[in-house]
Amino acid sequence: MIWGLLLLPFVVLAQHPTGNEKWLHPHKPTSQAEIDAQMPFYPSRASTGGMDLKPEMFEDPQVCKGCHQEIYRQWSQSVMANSWDDPIYQALFKRASEATKGEIDNFCIACHSPIGMTSMKATSAMIGSDQTLPGVNCEVCHNISELSGHDNAAYVLTPNRAMHVKLGPRTDAESPYHKTEFSDLHTRSEFCSVCHNVTHPMNSTPIERTYDEWQESVYNEQGVQCQDCHMTPGPGTSDNPGKSAIMGKDRKHIYSHDFSGGNSTLLEHLGHSESAQLSRDMLRSAATIEFMNLPSHVIPGEPVTIKVKVTNTGAGHKLPTGFPEGREVWIDFSASHDKNRPLYRSGAVVNGETEAGTRNFKVWLGDKNGDIVDLNVWEVDRVLADNRIPPKGFAIVDYTFVVPEDSKGKLTLAASLKYWPFSQHLVDELLGAGKMKVDIVEMTAATTTLAVKNEPLPSLIAQDSHH
Ligand code: HEC
Ligand code: HEC
Ligand code: HEC
Ligand code: HEC
Ligand code: HEC
Repeated sequence: MIWGLLLLPFVVLAQHPTGNEKWLHPHKPTSQAEIDAQMPFYPSRASTGGMDLKPEMFEDPQVCKGCHQEIYRQWSQSVMANSWDDPIYQALFKRASEATKGEIDNFCIACHSPIGMTSMKATSAMIGSDQTLPGVNCEVCHNISELSGHDNAAYVLTPNRAMHVKLGPRTDAESPYHKTEFSDLHTRSEFCSVCHNVTHPMNSTPIERTYDEWQESVYNEQGVQCQDCHMTPGPGTSDNPGKSAIMGKDRKHIYSHDFSGGNSTLLEHLGHSESAQLSRDMLRSAATIEFMNLPSHVIPGEPVTIKVKVTNTGAGHKLPTGFPEGREVWIDFSASHDKNRPLYRSGAVVNGETEAGTRNFKVWLGDKNGDIVDLNVWEVDRVLADNRIPPKGFAIVDYTFVVPEDSKGKLTLAASLKYWPFSQHLVDELLGAGKMKVDIVEMTAATTTLAVKNEPLPSLIAQDSHH
């Protein structure tokens, strides 16, 4: 009887192996032959369908701009257009490359400059040289014809200038300049998976899992793709009627190319205020915060516990997701009589970091000794902890403090949900102090008041009457 019950979960697992398989067997080559055959740009999984790529096989986005003006404008102000120039990336990449004697170069470049890696033999030595490499641009995405997996740049990049085909979402697109071909892949989240799932190439630790987080969510069940949230003109899934090219057809919805996420800091730093604002709009559409089961009043000299609930209402993956060394969401909570003199606070920024004891949502990576890795991602061996909020999920945290003896009148409670892509401390360590100002975004906030009264709480009275 008991054995039967215990066996049940295993039977269920055996019938649906796909859900958990990826956690048990992430991709890792097992022999040199496998590396040679499948991974020409080892340790990344990128490939080119056997083609020997040259930089001339890719067109400059300036060419596309001629007809796709709006799409070009949006893309050029996006994080992905700057994935190679990004100073935070360059600083960390340089460190990683030095620490691994260049062995890691192909890995990072595969996602941060696919054209640089596949056609220009890019290395970390190019950082700081005159040679700038293209980021994730038009020609990268519209020449990906297949995938060989769902992480570590497992795209098959096959530019075909002779044929001059651009792969895209339309079955009826006609362009005077290039051929077009319908690609179902481009309309699905799988397309993004290759770069938005990062696995440690040596020990298979899941470092970044935005795609998997989405794949296990209700958004996947409902058919809501990455594109539906990140290729619309603003948060949510709204229509965007118009044309995608000056000579294009009028269409009910054009997929925009802002790719807004959370990194307003980088965009502001690069001078793209408009797209920085779009990122803040995304963040502000992602979550709600509320007080739960508040007591009717508080009593001077007595401890009180306040519960705060944070719900991930808008992000199609964990909140936050992505770059694990940096991304952090936290609650800045305070109780006060006078806004300027809180009698309790948790979640302030001290020395460029959230103060000790802050209730935050984050992932902590560890090395092989189980020590926290804050920057040296190549040393990562395990995930130590992950309390980020799943899509449509929530977290409840509580704060306990003693109401001062001399309290009277009203107590104001304030809870603000904040985000930064990385702490000021981390930026200062990577770039030097004063080089980049981190933009702390308030995603949402709640305030309320509680009366201060010297009388027992109703629930306590009720409890007492039972005794
Ligand atoms: C001379 C104008 C012109 C230039 C230059 C141009 N395109 Fe286009 N492109 C068009 C038109 C017109 C369409 C069709 C739009 C429609 O049907 O809605 C189109 C469609 C597309 C599509 C959609 C294909 C599909 O089947 O869904 C993609 C992708 C695309 N172009 C990429 C590019 C890229 C990348 C470049 C630069 C290398 C570029 N285009 C340069 C005019 C141009
Ligand atoms: C990160 C990958 C990526 C980059 C970079 C990118 N695109 Fe796209 N593009 C897509 C995807 C994916 C779609 C299809 C979205 C869908 O249908 O869900 C698309 C759609 C399009 C379309 C058809 C839009 C429509 O609604 O008919 C055109 C045209 C296009 N892209 C041109 C460009 C040009 C020009 C650039 C560079 C300025 C560019 N793309 C950069 C991924 C990208
Ligand atoms: C070839 C690799 C590649 C592909 C394909 C790709 N991305 Fe990205 N994406 C990146 C990289 C690299 C960055 C980070 C660049 C940086 O921060 O320097 C990024 C950043 C982003 C950001 C900005 C995140 C932030 O913090 O603000 C969003 C949003 C995004 N990608 C969405 C998508 C979506 C949606 C798709 C699929 C339609 C997609 N990406 C496909 C490589 C890729
Ligand atoms: C239901 C809408 C929705 C879907 C679906 C969705 N996202 Fe997001 N995404 C958001 C919102 C809202 C944010 C801003 C909050 C945040 O940073 O998590 C965001 C943020 C991001 C960021 C910035 C990460 C960070 O926290 O700094 C990346 C990268 C990203 N999304 C990629 C993707 C990819 C890739 C997919 C598909 C696998 C996807 N998103 C699916 C809504 C969505
Ligand atoms: C499989 C693709 C992939 C690989 C491999 C990869 N990255 Fe990234 N990287 C991304 C994506 C996607 C993001 C954006 C995630 C987000 O917005 O949270 C990113 C973000 C970053 C950021 C944060 C940038 C910012 O402005 O916030 C840094 C730094 C970075 N990567 C460095 C590296 C280094 C160094 C390596 C090699 C050790 C590397 N990446 C390998 C895809 C990749």
